[in-house]
Amino acid sequence: MNRSTRVLNLKPSPTLAVGAKANELRAQGHKILNLSLGEPDFPTPEPIRQAGQKAIEQGKTKYTPVAGIPELREAIAAFYHRHKGLNYNASNIVVSTGAKQSLYNAIMSVVNDGDEVIIPTPYWVSYTTQVELAGGTPVLVHSKMEDNYQLDLDALEASFTSKTKMLLLNSPNNPTGAVYTKESMQAVAEMLKKHPEVWLICDDIYDQLFYGDQTPVNPLDVEPSLRDRTILVNGFSKAYAMTGWRIGYIVAPKPIVKASIALQGAITSGTNAPTQYAALRALDESLNSTIQDMRETFRERLACMKETFGKLPRTTFSNPEGAFYMMVDFSRWLGTKTPSGNRLTNGVEMATYLLEEGHVAGVPGEAFGAPGTIRFAYSTNQETIQQAAKAIQNALEQLSE
Ligand SMILES: Cc1ncc(COP(=O)(O)O)c(C=O)c1O
Repeated sequence: MNRSTRVLNLKPSPTLAVGAKANELRAQGHKILNLSLGEPDFPTPEPIRQAGQKAIEQGKTKYTPVAGIPELREAIAAFYHRHKGLNYNASNIVVSTGAKQSLYNAIMSVVNDGDEVIIPTPYWVSYTTQVELAGGTPVLVHSKMEDNYQLDLDALEASFTSKTKMLLLNSPNNPTGAVYTKESMQAVAEMLKKHPEVWLICDDIYDQLFYGDQTPVNPLDVEPSLRDRTILVNGFSKAYAMTGWRIGYIVAPKPIVKASIALQGAITSGTNAPTQYAALRALDESLNSTIQDMRETFRERLACMKETFGKLPRTTFSNPEGAFYMMVDFSRWLGTKTPSGNRLTNGVEMATYLLEEGHVAGVPGEAFGAPGTIRFAYSTNQETIQQAAKAIQNALEQLSE
């Protein structure tokens, strides 16, 4: 029996091999120093958990409106007003089963067969997959570690064509931790003004996790006239440690809201009801300090990453300012030989070697369009980070020319 070409065209993730190896080593009783996960290690804060439990006990376990319960949509609008000074209301918001679904709704609402979607690299792996599922073509615009993974504005400008339908930005960025400068967002806004038919998606899921001086901004923050064609994507997984609750949302113009409701109504309907009540509690201002505490812990871990990974020979990394990831460039080690005589030729092989030899798990940059690098997540404690850096150093020292 043949399966659909849509499904057959889905590319296997380059991370699968590393993940399978990690499981194999765990099954053999090895402790894995896991710096591969895109999720905070903190438990969901107690008041949020309690709100979810209370919702279950109170019988709030029925279908909800497809776009989400009105109280939550209103709270999201109020949150955007508080944090960004943006005036939206509940009718601009659709709550979904994770920001991943929000993104999918947004992309499916806009992209037709043959449309081009501009995506800066390195990029979160689901972007290209979702664009391709919608029949679109990802157009990748490379940014470099030596530019701290800031946007290459000339390359970006040159990537617009008559087929461009959408630009997809993510700052703070997964996998690089880059926070785009305000000046670059102004430049992007100017570019978009020259292409009035192009939609903008800002995946702002890490916008509360930043450690530099600058609060993250997107082109809409600096150019309000983009509002009618900007779709803001956000969620609760990262800043509120709610990955498994599965809840995210878009803040968008009404036509996109309408399209997202139609699409979501056809596939999943409203998001899990107790989760929506938990998210409502998460947005309560009384939780601000809890969220800040988690951010401060990430800030300390980033300092620990820079200090410990800074000692690794023949490697470089950028200066991440947000999210909880750091990309480390191992390209100067490619071509060296492992103790068992294998030559390392790419980031996947390097990540596999570090896992086998050092029991450190990272995600090879090949998954994000950044070959020769490995993404390490500091969503884990400082002791694990320190042990991982040591183990990587030992493993590197065993490589020969
Ligand atoms: C950049 C980015 N966007 C969106 C998501 C999706 O988050 P969720 O579906 O858990 O809300 C993730 C999760 O890893 C991410 O890294």
